[in-house]
Amino acid sequence: MCGIVAAIAGQNIVPVLLEGLRKLEYRGYDSAGLAVLNGAQGTQLRRLRAVGRVAELAAQADEQKLDAAIGIAHTRWATHGVPSERNAHPHISDGLAVVHNGIIENFEPLRARLTGLGYTFTSETDTEVIAHLVRHHLKNHPDLVDAVRATCGELIGAYAIAIVTEGEDSRVVVARHGSPLVLGQSDSGNYAASDTSALLQVTRNMIYLEDGDMAELTRDAMRIMRLDGTPVARPVQVSQLSADAVELGSYRHYMQKEIFEQPAALSNTLEMLAQARSITPNLFGVEADNVFRSVRRVLVLACGTSFHAGLVARYWLEDIAGIECTVEIASEYRYRKPVADPDTLVVTISQSGETADTLAALKYAKSLGMTRTLAICNVPESAIVRESSLRFITRAGPEIGVASTKAYTTQLAALALLTLAMAKTRGTLSVAQEEKYLGALRHLPGAVTRVLELEPQIQAWAERFAMKHHALFLGRGQHYPIALEGALKLKEISYIHAEAYPAGELKHGPLALVDRDMPVIAIAPNDALIEKLKSNIQEVRARGGELYVIADAGTEMAEGEGVHILNMPENYGLLSPVLHVVPLQLLAYHAALVKGTDVDKPRNLAKSVTVE
Ligand code: F6R
Repeated sequence: MCGIVAAIAGQNIVPVLLEGLRKLEYRGYDSAGLAVLNGAQGTQLRRLRAVGRVAELAAQADEQKLDAAIGIAHTRWATHGVPSERNAHPHISDGLAVVHNGIIENFEPLRARLTGLGYTFTSETDTEVIAHLVRHHLKNHPDLVDAVRATCGELIGAYAIAIVTEGEDSRVVVARHGSPLVLGQSDSGNYAASDTSALLQVTRNMIYLEDGDMAELTRDAMRIMRLDGTPVARPVQVSQLSADAVELGSYRHYMQKEIFEQPAALSNTLEMLAQARSITPNLFGVEADNVFRSVRRVLVLACGTSFHAGLVARYWLEDIAGIECTVEIASEYRYRKPVADPDTLVVTISQSGETADTLAALKYAKSLGMTRTLAICNVPESAIVRESSLRFITRAGPEIGVASTKAYTTQLAALALLTLAMAKTRGTLSVAQEEKYLGALRHLPGAVTRVLELEPQIQAWAERFAMKHHALFLGRGQHYPIALEGALKLKEISYIHAEAYPAGELKHGPLALVDRDMPVIAIAPNDALIEKLKSNIQEVRARGGELYVIADAGTEMAEGEGVHILNMPENYGLLSPVLHVVPLQLLAYHAALVKGTDVDKPRNLAKSVTVE
């Protein structure tokens, strides 16, 4: 949700700001802007803003031959006020410019107060109050750092901010509370951004700020302090992220690239199994063995696709590890008054590790006394990982497409490992079962590769699908969450309204929707529920519904009038959800291609939801 970049260096930083924004565009892409200081001692603040993509802003910067050694930049996902040039960042108060990622919850009273003091607002954003408030505090605190500190003391909500002001061309001030911010250190200058990928172009030396940190960046130094002014030291970490990992390469879209990277992402995530003869709880942290032995239940907290991964894990944990598991949408959990059991393992699942609702739900669970926490996450330095006592880092690599794909399948792999580790410590897994499951996990990347080979058939389905306005997804048991995930993918990127139901629910209401215009996608692996699912499918067929069935070896269903079958290469038992989601990802991708939507940047959405 919004991306920010700041730079101060010994040479022109405009290309760095623009390239940084391009890398952060996944976080928001409805408008973009930058502000730089040039002229002697930074006497002139220049701002450029554009509605739409970073490319528009870059064209303006090019046309104006913008050149400066200090500046800040922003790519926006609108929260307060429509996407427009007026609402695009940076926001300015009398020569002072600010970019902001997050939400200022108390912006209305602040805006009323500042208006009363004579400040004029030119946008509908919450961010503009920050600019005026810093300007106001500069009256009593002439030092910019002090004025920013006084401002932060009045802000309620989440923010990562970067500020420059006219007449001060030797520093940028940044601060964070609740939204991510990383500093990049190099010989040529110092930088800040919402994530590492934006800074790899200039450095690998990263410093991850903690909540409540602020920093003053000059060309040659960084001064980090807490918001109360106490100096702090934060370690420099050398990023291992390869610059290629965030490039599109020969693919047309990041989503396509990420779907096809799944075999490699799974192999990397499961790398430790290559040599291991058995599973060890240590994979989740040194304390994991004790924790897994002592807890009585598991509570999974997550949002969106990550929530769907949790729903699959519930079937696994209850069936194989024999432990009760509940899975909750984080944005709901954080405002409920749940009955807290201290003997709970709280598992958060998040690709980004920054999702505001998941982080808040985790903190809430801890505040209720549930302190045994495990993060399953794709970003090691993220807030959710830092907030958790145990961790498992999926190794999907950076996921740029807004629709999550490889993060999801690697989360499932991690949850399968968790299930086996818990089952083992709790004595519900025989040696033979352990060997069987480990073998299946090792073969998962190869199995996904074979599913990807089915793409041409799915592409043909997508041609028929793309013209539809609605779709129903059906699944049973551990494949019901896969139906949910398939429906989410389709609606998210192709804007086709899609609903998912456990197939047994059909006759309790949704069957009324079925007619020849309603495609029904059934996930039909050959498991214990297949006969029941076949009956549900007949119910659809009898109402003229067009069926698309994802079956596997042994499902024994025949193609016919209005019935299309995709045969999966093999039945994968416990891990079958990992395979069955892949055709659904491809279906959504190809339907979106036919419709011509912006696959990687679907309308109204952004990745990494750092606001409520
Ligand atoms: C859908 C999607 C979202 C995310 C959700 C949680 O394709 O990507 O539903 O899964 O916003 O994000 P993370 O996993 O970063 O917490």
